[in-house]
Amino acid sequence: MRQTSIEELLHKHGKVTYNTKGVFAPPSYTGKSKLFISEKEYGQAEELAKAKLAYLLSSAVPENRTDPNSFPDLRDGGNDTAGEPGKPVMTGWLDYAGKTLEHEKFLQDLQTAGNRIAEDFGAFVVIGIGGSYTNIEGIINAVNPKGTRIPFYYLGQQLSAERYRKVLAELAAVKKKIAVNVISKSGTTTEPALALRLLLSELTRMQKLGAVFATTDPEKGALRQTIDARGFNPSSYFTDEINKYFYIGEDIGGRFSVITPVGLLPFAVAGIDLRELLSGYRYAMETLQDTAVRAAAAKYAVYQKGAVNAVLSYNVACFREKILGFRQLWPECDGKDGKGLNLMEEFYTADAHSNGQLIKSGIRNMVEIFHFITDIGVDFKVPASAYNNDKLEVVAQGSPGALSLHTINNRFMSALLMDHWKSGLPVIAVTLPRLSPFIVAMQMGVEHYSAVLFGLMLGINPVNQPGVQGYKEIAFRLLGMKGKEPMTAALNELKEFGL
Ligand code: PA5
Repeated sequence: MRQTSIEELLHKHGKVTYNTKGVFAPPSYTGKSKLFISEKEYGQAEELAKAKLAYLLSSAVPENRTDPNSFPDLRDGGNDTAGEPGKPVMTGWLDYAGKTLEHEKFLQDLQTAGNRIAEDFGAFVVIGIGGSYTNIEGIINAVNPKGTRIPFYYLGQQLSAERYRKVLAELAAVKKKIAVNVISKSGTTTEPALALRLLLSELTRMQKLGAVFATTDPEKGALRQTIDARGFNPSSYFTDEINKYFYIGEDIGGRFSVITPVGLLPFAVAGIDLRELLSGYRYAMETLQDTAVRAAAAKYAVYQKGAVNAVLSYNVACFREKILGFRQLWPECDGKDGKGLNLMEEFYTADAHSNGQLIKSGIRNMVEIFHFITDIGVDFKVPASAYNNDKLEVVAQGSPGALSLHTINNRFMSALLMDHWKSGLPVIAVTLPRLSPFIVAMQMGVEHYSAVLFGLMLGINPVNQPGVQGYKEIAFRLLGMKGKEPMTAALNELKEFGL
């Protein structure tokens, strides 16, 4: 089959753009906000971002990594600012899409397996959390606003019993057998491990357990050890070629891993073109470095002026889970050593009627990033009406100024951008021409780059996440996993909180 060239993809889908003009003050600005930056401050930030980009790219050159102490701020583990010597340099995502696009048979076999899974089963349950889940639902929802060809369910992201009851009740009503995809690099994360136990037990009881697929580390980890013993990844779907590459690379952290089999299997089941998706990501890696530098430099410069919150604004409902992917990416990369941007998520115009008050006139410590989507593939005309009490006749069908619902939506977003900018907030406008796998993956690539550059600019390690371990240690004591005495001591400590 002839592969679509990158020129054809660009011609069909266009490109993501980032406009950072709004980090500078509006013309003749007389307000009190101290957040806007000067050309000089931007220039300095851009120089720093470029230097960090060169450093980041040099970490992908295999010969540069031979010293186990090299790239301390790009290695796994360790503390907030340095990884552990000898642990992997976590920048495998830089060339993963490019390499995988060369594995034509792997992609073809995986796409075929996805088609067959969608034909054979009545639903697909994805079990995972954090990087092993967020962008899967994000991308699937963004590119399939009408829903997937078989229903997708997501478990293992929380421990909420009422959600389990709801999902299990819906699964009980599915007519055919159900396929499960458990995704965990470590294989020991509690939420997905519990979800797998519960789901396998319940589906067996319902006599609905179809195939189970496990996506994990190539060698290590609890899940890897049980794949063969439990009959996961059945050969009726997984060819040798799939098995050869079906793992999460040791040099790709969770929040970058959706471009690996973590996302590729669910995407294939959802009917997403894997080549198109990987081509969008590769395009960002190879061609949009300047865009990532500009985005990182603009955010870093306003952060230096006191912006500690990044408001991620969007106005298309099916883009929400993708935005949540960025809300995971940035804090896990950059929330360390007393530094980092707090991410807020605002769905306009709904939130213009609530948090919009604070964003417009409250504390001036934010940079707002507006996501505009030009064409969402569906639209409505405004019906003409004999009653014009709502004053909407001017945009209704038949009027010379007739506008569609999506155009009105984007005009409201533009109004919010203009109003917030003029009220003292630095703003960035991101435009996605459409929500296709090519474009969504392209934007994700730019964000991966710029979140990592931002962390390096702050002087922290953007690829580890030591901060998410502390509460687990306490929780494991509370569950008795560390023995009876530590559990009693931990339970006693809680009494001070009345718990
Ligand atoms: O970005 C990360 O590394 C984390 O969000 C992990 O993906 C998350 O904790 C899940 O880990 P695992 O895949 O080991 O279950």
